[in-house]
Parts: sequence; structure tokens; C-alpha cells
Amino acid sequence: MSKVHVLDHPLIQHKLTYIRDEKTGAKEFRELVEEVSNLMAYEVSRDFPLQEIEITTPVKKCKAKVLSGKKVGIIPILRAGLGMVNGILELIPAAKVGHVGLYRDPDTLQPVEYYCKLPTDVPERDLIVVDPMLATGGSATAAIQFLKDKGAKSIKLMCLLAAPEGIELVQKDHPDVNIFVAAIDEKLNEKGYIVPGLGDAGDRLYGTK
Ligand code: PRP
Ligand code: URA
Repeated sequence: MSKVHVLDHPLIQHKLTYIRDEKTGAKEFRELVEEVSNLMAYEVSRDFPLQEIEITTPVKKCKAKVLSGKKVGIIPILRAGLGMVNGILELIPAAKVGHVGLYRDPDTLQPVEYYCKLPTDVPERDLIVVDPMLATGGSATAAIQFLKDKGAKSIKLMCLLAAPEGIELVQKDHPDVNIFVAAIDEKLNEKGYIVPGLGDAGDRLYGTK
């Protein structure tokens, strides 16, 4: 069974409150999503392996640690996942970014794929799938399956908000994928929106409503 990490650091929780608030406009919403993604990336990368190298400080030679050449891939689920990419790239600038385009059919709530462009070496990378919302879990499970079909072996999922239903589905379909969220909300409403949630993440990021 995969692990669920709720990243309840006070800075994340503070910013999340303003992300949720309907009074927050698109500019501030985008900035906050980027900042929270940056803070979450700090935790998501906690298990990255280190290696020792020798350096010379102004005082003496010593051994010091650096990341051991880990290859990371950030995979935003379009559109809303795009809002999380820059915050992660700030911390992991060598990561490559692969895009998976999925939208949720408003009637069936089933994910529909419309775009995919991935790094060529997906099987060798540690992938972080990002999407602000894990609602029914349909989009995330489809994106993860898609990556596995392309040979991906190491995948984490990072979302701002999750509904219990979405977590359950990802854990059932992908027990090898650990999930990182800033909060787990109460439930889904009859339209499949997270309650209390933040509304439609894509529309709020890009001002399309
Ligand atoms: C939203 C969100 C997720 C999906 C979550 O995307 O960004 O991708 O819904 O719902 P699920 O867990 O029930 O699949 P949406 O389909 O609205 O597309 P958009 O990002 O283009 O706005
Ligand atoms: N997608 C969103 O953007 N918001 C939700 O609450 C659920 C799915």
C-alpha cells in the first residue's frame, strides 16, 4: 500500500487558505500555487540519495555531500498541473518536464487524453506527477498508468488538495505510488468537486471563468 504524506507545514497551510479563498484573484492564485509547490517539493525530494565528494573550502579540504546525479522528471497533468511546475523547477532545475494532457469529461467524470510529450528516458527517471486536484482520482490514475505503459518505474504523485475517494483509487490502482498532498478535504460533491476545495483549479489559474 502506498503512503500518503500530508504536508501540514504552517507556511503551506497559510498559503493554502488564500488559495482556497474565492476572493483571491488569478495573479495571486498563480503565485501562491507556485510557492506551495516549491515548499512541497522540499518534502517530496527528502529521500533523494546523496554522495560524498571532496572539496576545498577557504580553510581546508573536506568531504561534502551532493545529490547523486538523480534524474528527475516533472509530469504536470494539463492544464492545472502546469501551475505547479515552476515552483518545483526552482528547487530541482535539472529536472525535465513531460506533459500529459487530460481533461475530465464533465458528464461522465472520466479522463479524456488529448496530449502527451515525455522525456525519452522515462524509465530511468524518478517522476513526480503534479496536479493541484485529486478528486475522483480518475485523471491521476490514468496519467500514472500512461507513464507505466511507457516504462516508468518510479512515480510519486503531488497534489494540493485531495478527496478521500481520489486517494483510495490511486492506492488501489497504484499501490507503488506515494502521494504527497497539502490537505485531505471532506468529500466530493454531486458534480465531482472537492468540498470545501478551491473550485476549478484550471479556471482559477488561467482566469477562464
Ligand atoms: C481537474 C484537475 C485534475 C482533475 C481532477 O482538471 O486539475 O486534472 O480535474 O479530477 P479527477 O480526480 O476527478 O480526475 P480538469 O479536467 O478540470 O482540466 P483542466 O486542468 O484543463 O482545467
Ligand atoms: N477539478 C477541479 O479543478 N476542482 C475540483 O474540485 C475537482 C476537480
